[in-house]
Amino acid sequence: MIVISDLRIAILGLGYVGLPLGLALSRHFRVFGYDSNPIRLRELRQNVDSTSETSSYTLEHSKITFLEDIKDAQDCNVFIVTVPTPIDSNNIPDLSALCAACRDIGSVLSSGDIVVFESTVYPGVTENICGPELESSSGLQCGSGFFLGYSPERINPGDRSHTVETVCKVVAGQTKGVTELLERIYGTALSAGVHVAPNIRTAEAAKVIENAQRDVNIAFINEVAMIFKNMDIDTGDVLAAARTKWNFLDFEPGLVGGHCIGVDPYYLAFGAQQAGHEPDVILAGRRINDAVASFVVDQIANMLRPSSRILVLGLTFKENVSDLRNSKVAELVTLLTQKGFQVSIHDPRAARLQAKAFYGIDLAEDLDESYSFDAVIGAVGHKEYRALDSSKLLRMVKNDGVIADLKGIWRAYDFPPPIRYWRL
Ligand SMILES: NC(=O)c1ccc[n+]([C@@H]2O[C@H](COP(=O)([O-])OP(=O)(O)OC[C@H]3O[C@@H](n4cnc5c(N)ncnc54)[C@H](O)[C@@H]3O)[C@@H](O)[C@H]2O)c1
Repeated sequence: MIVISDLRIAILGLGYVGLPLGLALSRHFRVFGYDSNPIRLRELRQNVDSTSETSSYTLEHSKITFLEDIKDAQDCNVFIVTVPTPIDSNNIPDLSALCAACRDIGSVLSSGDIVVFESTVYPGVTENICGPELESSSGLQCGSGFFLGYSPERINPGDRSHTVETVCKVVAGQTKGVTELLERIYGTALSAGVHVAPNIRTAEAAKVIENAQRDVNIAFINEVAMIFKNMDIDTGDVLAAARTKWNFLDFEPGLVGGHCIGVDPYYLAFGAQQAGHEPDVILAGRRINDAVASFVVDQIANMLRPSSRILVLGLTFKENVSDLRNSKVAELVTLLTQKGFQVSIHDPRAARLQAKAFYGIDLAEDLDESYSFDAVIGAVGHKEYRALDSSKLLRMVKNDGVIADLKGIWRAYDFPPPIRYWRL
């Protein structure tokens, strides 16, 4: 068994999850970082993190060694996999990055090494898919030649209080010895403690239900928001009242994008179907949340004349991050454009090149040049938009225009008629 003083950890996938984890581990152990995207590696070598999760100062002073070739990880004895686990166009888990990472690791795996997966999956993927993939690429046998572990990542990008170091880490190993080593590694580097799950499948299941539970809860609030629109009741007022009960679960209506909450329930649903269970609640939640953009567009379109000019504030998948992946605002923009509206989009955090590459969207340079719209849609609750005062907002719209506030960030303002204020 590997001893702590001999540890050489390789991290595969240096994105939102892998980079902060690698940096945290590198404060205590020898850590090597590998990413299959050479552009990502180049920026990290230049102490730049385009995900904005890590400062240049931290990168400059880190002890992590970035590898351009996986062959240079030959001497590593613990491999941690943090590659993407997206879905395909039919909402089926796409495990291609995970399998590619396994093949890469297999090419450098030695007897006694440990491979830990942090990517979100459904129960069984680590042992039934990754294990065999590692076996065939390494020629070693899983459980005797090399060993598996799973430790789900629970970070919340953009959130400076729930970081990799401050959230309890769930770990599970294929054997007692592996579990103990993982407990030791994560327990040394992260301050919030370690929870040992009884086996790998349990740890995989814990992660995937955390996000599916969130999705279903948001779907419930989105559904009641749709119901209350028909009843002419303000959902924000209903939630403020309901929240006064001690056990009311506090969720807000809104678009559900990104590549975790809107994706992971499909992993659980796929796993459920494989196990012979049709997951009604999980998939119903997905259907509701996926329908929010078109619900919002229909509501706003009913308040506007054809060809109206609309300013959309925010494009990232959630507030205070630069992450544009699976942004439901992009879908909202497409639907508005299809209805014949002229749409401008602004986002102070999104990278212009990425907005163009991902969605063909040219972001507006500056808010000041964009005034006098028929409608302003507050789509993302970035700090910059929360800080807009009502007079500035009023200058952006015509005096009989619409202010649509998807996140309820301007609900305290008193907009004078004939301005029409709409919120979810
Ligand atoms: N971002 C989050 O908030 C979050 C939170 C918890 C869990 N997760 C899970 O963690 C995993 C990683 O997510 P992320 O947000 O860090 O993704 P990401 O896209 O930010 O980063 C993944 C990195 O892996 C690299 N990569 C892809 N294939 C590779 C391969 N075969 N070998 C080496 N590198 C490869 C990519 O170039 C990219 O830099 C996913 O399973 C995700 O569901 C993400």
